[in-house]
Amino acid sequence: AAFFMLLVAGIALCDSVVEDISAGCGVINFKVNRKLLVQEDVKFGLTSELFNTLKRGTTLVEYSSPNIAKKFHAGHLRSTIIGNFIANLKQSLGNNVIRMNYLGDWGMQFGLLGAGFGQFGCQEKLKQNPLQHLFEVYVQVNKEAEHNEDMKQAARDFFRQLEQHESEAVSLWQQFREITVDEYQHIYKRLGVHFDIYSGESFHQDQAQEVVQQLQSQGLLKTSEKGTGVVDLSPAGDMSSVCTVLRSDGTTLYITRDLAAAIDRKAKYHFDEMIYVTDKSQENHFHQLFHILLAMGHSWADRCKHVPFGLVRGMKTRSGEVVFLEDVLDEARARMLHNMSQSKTTKEMDNTEDTAEKVGISALIVQDFKGPLLSDYTFDWDRMLQAQGDTGVFLQYTHARLCRSVLLKITKLYLAGGVSIFALCDLYSYDEVLYQSAQDLQPKHLVNFLLKLCHLIASAHRELPVKGSSQVVAQARLRLFSGACSVLANGMRILGITPVDKM
Ligand code: ARG
Repeated sequence: AAFFMLLVAGIALCDSVVEDISAGCGVINFKVNRKLLVQEDVKFGLTSELFNTLKRGTTLVEYSSPNIAKKFHAGHLRSTIIGNFIANLKQSLGNNVIRMNYLGDWGMQFGLLGAGFGQFGCQEKLKQNPLQHLFEVYVQVNKEAEHNEDMKQAARDFFRQLEQHESEAVSLWQQFREITVDEYQHIYKRLGVHFDIYSGESFHQDQAQEVVQQLQSQGLLKTSEKGTGVVDLSPAGDMSSVCTVLRSDGTTLYITRDLAAAIDRKAKYHFDEMIYVTDKSQENHFHQLFHILLAMGHSWADRCKHVPFGLVRGMKTRSGEVVFLEDVLDEARARMLHNMSQSKTTKEMDNTEDTAEKVGISALIVQDFKGPLLSDYTFDWDRMLQAQGDTGVFLQYTHARLCRSVLLKITKLYLAGGVSIFALCDLYSYDEVLYQSAQDLQPKHLVNFLLKLCHLIASAHRELPVKGSSQVVAQARLRLFSGACSVLANGMRILGITPVDKM
């Protein structure tokens, strides 16, 4: 008994859910706050004391960031949905969130594109199908430039014109950029993703030269044997590890633009933290970026974070390799539509396509979020779209079913016996799960919690029927289902999934 007393003293952390903890004979009793459990309108996720310990402020999240005219690969899709999750999570925890897309809208590819567009491009096609057409032109010009010196020279000339802000070149570039952003906005909308700012590498072209000046005046810029400008990152200061920030011809690089971009963002948006979401191949890049910022005296670089993720293997559609984001979304919708038409349980509805789209996207997201972000995984349409098992389809199905049950109207209130408490406790660990996700920015905690919740709801649906129970019991069970429904919907939204009411 003494041991139990001690144990109880050790865990005597009562909060709004657990009212009292006491030691009995060989048992520990937890007294759950019943009033809270039957409360009308619980704000799941934000009531806990845990949240007072979280720092709040302005969070800038940079994600998606595709390159104009190039392929939108699986890495960009992952960055898009992971970044959206992080932004949603931060927002739901009370931060002011700035969502930024940093486009690859500068560099030699625009020299090639500009030089080749006259030969291979067509304004008509550009308007009809911009992403596809720009990509085609880009592929053709690259092929041409492989063996055609004149094309290479033309590309260099065009890029120089761009760098010198010559109006004809700039206006063609601008057209490519605008048309691409319009198109992306459209597709992001299907994904339920939006951005407050479309920034890009082009924005920091001139500022990047200023950064080089600053590095120079701070004595941080060294010249390598090859004549490039480098910053020494070696701990011993012996140039054993350097980062190149300036080419020998005086032009800047990806990292130089990132240095300028970070400094500019801090000055413009006064963020308290900044989060970059890209695949793990850029881990070293961001490591160097933060290191140089600190060396320049920007102590806020301590509050910049890179969230790396692993590779996706085998992302293919029926028509082959994926080039465009739209192809993945179309395929997810088509496959889901097919599955729904096969299923006897599909309900009559007016917006089948829309439902199939939302459910298809949730399947993509859950597949992606189940494991640690850093792990690679193999893309598998059949597995991710299974209606049973731990999939986004299962989450949506459970949500739709809850919506149906909760629609039943019964009047009086009473809390039923122990069974529902057990499930409710799970609802109340929701805030801990959010807290955990906020610590390491991994969506797996939330996904796996929601999947577990759905399994619990499935057994509750079997064992705690509403229909045929006495009014008081039915009402209490209904309360349970409606609580589960709001936690599920809330959690799904944070993941970037739009819950459907019918399917
Ligand atoms: N556009 C880059 C790419 O596709 C990603 C940009 C990541 N963000 C950054 N600030 N460097 O690889």
